[in-house]
Amino acid sequence: MTKDHRGARPPGRRSLLAGAAGLVTTVAAATAVPVGVAAAAPAPAPTPAPAPNPAPARRFAGKVVLVTGATSGIGRAAAIAFAREGAKVGFCGRREELGRRVEAEIRAAGGEATYTRADVRDPAQVESFVAGVADQYGRLDVALNNAGTQIVKPLHEMTVEEWDDTAHTNTRGVFLAIKYEVPPMRESGGGVILVTGSANEFASRPGLGAYSASKGGVTGLVRTAALDYGQDNIRVAALSPGTTDTGLVDRRRPPNITDEQWAAGKAQYGADNVDALRRMARPEEMAAAALALASPDMSFLTGTSVIVDGGMLAGL
Ligand SMILES: NC(=O)c1ccc[n+]([C@@H]2O[C@H](COP(=O)([O-])OP(=O)(O)OC[C@H]3O[C@@H](n4cnc5c(N)ncnc54)[C@H](OP(=O)(O)O)[C@@H]3O)[C@@H](O)[C@H]2O)c1
Repeated sequence: MTKDHRGARPPGRRSLLAGAAGLVTTVAAATAVPVGVAAAAPAPAPTPAPAPNPAPARRFAGKVVLVTGATSGIGRAAAIAFAREGAKVGFCGRREELGRRVEAEIRAAGGEATYTRADVRDPAQVESFVAGVADQYGRLDVALNNAGTQIVKPLHEMTVEEWDDTAHTNTRGVFLAIKYEVPPMRESGGGVILVTGSANEFASRPGLGAYSASKGGVTGLVRTAALDYGQDNIRVAALSPGTTDTGLVDRRRPPNITDEQWAAGKAQYGADNVDALRRMARPEEMAAAALALASPDMSFLTGTSVIVDGGMLAGL
């Protein structure tokens, strides 16, 4: 990385801190000049994403893994990866067609997975989903509580309903999942509970008040649950991603721009904001991190958040 590259970055990039929130700003600026135009100051090539492991291990053979929010994005990639490594996977989400598609994809690849429609904001649905997974597969070894949503609005414009929806999905939904996961995990002799937190547990930016507060809540939940259930041989940790190229980011796409412009805007965002690796993560990379944290290799890891952000927070 040369000094010229660093000098080429737009002034004010430091306001584009964690999460996907700077994207619209970046793309809006780019469309005005036009998109991707960093043409006047081309973004340095990002580090390449690694190729998928051609011969995955079977670290989760015989294990039962539950994933919330696996109809798309990080959760989908994690459900697929856990199944590829031998786990029986029970997962949920609200979009039934996508859920059925992920289930079929896993089974077509020789894996075992069952989709259940469940909304993590609803205690009865979470209880029934968790019990269903444990009943169907006979135990519960790993849970990845991943379902999440994001709203970007200054607090004075945010409705109470929008605040509650964010909190109920990202924080209360995690509480509910842990509440119902602990009993079957205890019966199984222990396990691992992971929560998808965010780099926004640790840094924020304008408009992310509800999201950052909800993810900060995850930080507290994870630490407390680790203390409460350590004696039950249950590890609890957060996987805290930096910006990852999923639907959560794509929902910020401005209207009336082409696919190419949007892809260029996202690449520029990564180059401008992820100081070390200069790109957004792929969901498969977050899935790989989740599997690593859930594996016995990390047997002494609990009560903490593991930031996997390509060096974004390191460069603040
Ligand atoms: N992408 C990023 O840059 C980034 C960065 C840091 C952290 N994260 C976190 O990563 C997690 C996964 O997000 P993603 O990036 O993969 O985005 P995504 O593709 O939008 O996935 C979100 C998942 O959560 C599910 N979900 C949302 N609300 C739900 C509800 N009420 N009940 C059940 N499932 C629900 C969605 O399923 P349905 O819509 O079908 O219900 C979907 O499967 C979230 O917790 C997010 O906060 C993402």
